[in-house]
Amino acid sequence: MTFAKIVSTGSYLPEKILSNADLEEKVRTTNEWIIQRTGIRRRRIASKEETASAMGIAAASIALKSADLQPKDIEAVIVATCTHHQIFPSTACLIQEALDIPDCMAFDIQAACGGFLYALSIATQYLENHQVQRILIVGTETMSCVVDWQERSTCVLFGDGAGAVILENSETPGILNVQLSANGRYKNLLYLNNAKMSKDSYIRMEGNPIFRLAVKYLSEIAIKVIENSHLIPNDIDWIVPHQANIRIIKATAKKLGIPMGKVIVTIDEQANTSSASIPIALDVAIRDGDILRGQYLLLEAFGGGLTWGAALVRF
Ligand code: ACO
Repeated sequence: MTFAKIVSTGSYLPEKILSNADLEEKVRTTNEWIIQRTGIRRRRIASKEETASAMGIAAASIALKSADLQPKDIEAVIVATCTHHQIFPSTACLIQEALDIPDCMAFDIQAACGGFLYALSIATQYLENHQVQRILIVGTETMSCVVDWQERSTCVLFGDGAGAVILENSETPGILNVQLSANGRYKNLLYLNNAKMSKDSYIRMEGNPIFRLAVKYLSEIAIKVIENSHLIPNDIDWIVPHQANIRIIKATAKKLGIPMGKVIVTIDEQANTSSASIPIALDVAIRDGDILRGQYLLLEAFGGGLTWGAALVRF
């Protein structure tokens, strides 16, 4: 039996910082409201050159270097994004070309903030089925391009960035279990229309019901991956959650009975970077020396679709 394991990670954040104080100048909001309701203090904003592919290239280069791998060692590229600057070529093809990765399958997937876990699940199947030996997966987003900067209830929530993970075949289990779900009946609670086909092409969201659904579905699916991995919540060393709102993160951890001391939090510095938030948080925690080899990680995400998922990883 062949398994999939995480070999290395990398991340990239744009230079420009937008603080809550900066937002007080743009919309009718306060630093106190944003911190209290979301946990966000600042976020990074991409320049024109820092496209989803450019940031993905930077994050992937770091992941390659960390594992002492060459571009020729990569046999597939999967990118999760909902803010690609070109519809095609896919962001995955642009990253493949820029890094000089030889001919291989390369494609984007789109599941909003749930995208990284969808990419992780697909990559795991390819590795476990012996189709390829090593895969680069990237979550990369320029959410600042699709945010309505006049709308205070959404513009304070998002930021830009990219995270990359290299996975490879392993004789011992690394990705223990991944569960994904979606419910399109909630399509009107959170959506982003295509700019070419709609006059309104900004993120639109009913924050309150999404908040409640996120806590319910995330805790349910997290319990499922923990049970499927024959573990109990107490075995989890770290939760690496999607960073949408500190109150969602806290409420979900509480439902699982896992203390906040075991939760990786980057939302204060980076806000919600959609499909990039989990791989960025993972990379930050590994580089800070918090996440160590052999530890059990619970990844969980929730986003537009609605989509959601969780993964149990032995790092
Ligand atoms: N500053 C000040 N006041 C504000 C702001 C702001 N930036 N935004 C909203 N308010 C006001 C509202 O107008 C409202 O005022 P009212 O009572 O006079 O009508 C009041 O604050 C409360 O608004 P709520 O929407 O009820 O605030 P809530 O506590 O629910 O927080 C938030 C809003 C932060 C959006 C929260 O609901 C949330 O995080 N929801 C989930 C978001 C999420 O997880 N999305 C999924 C991922 S995103 C993706 O997939 C792309």
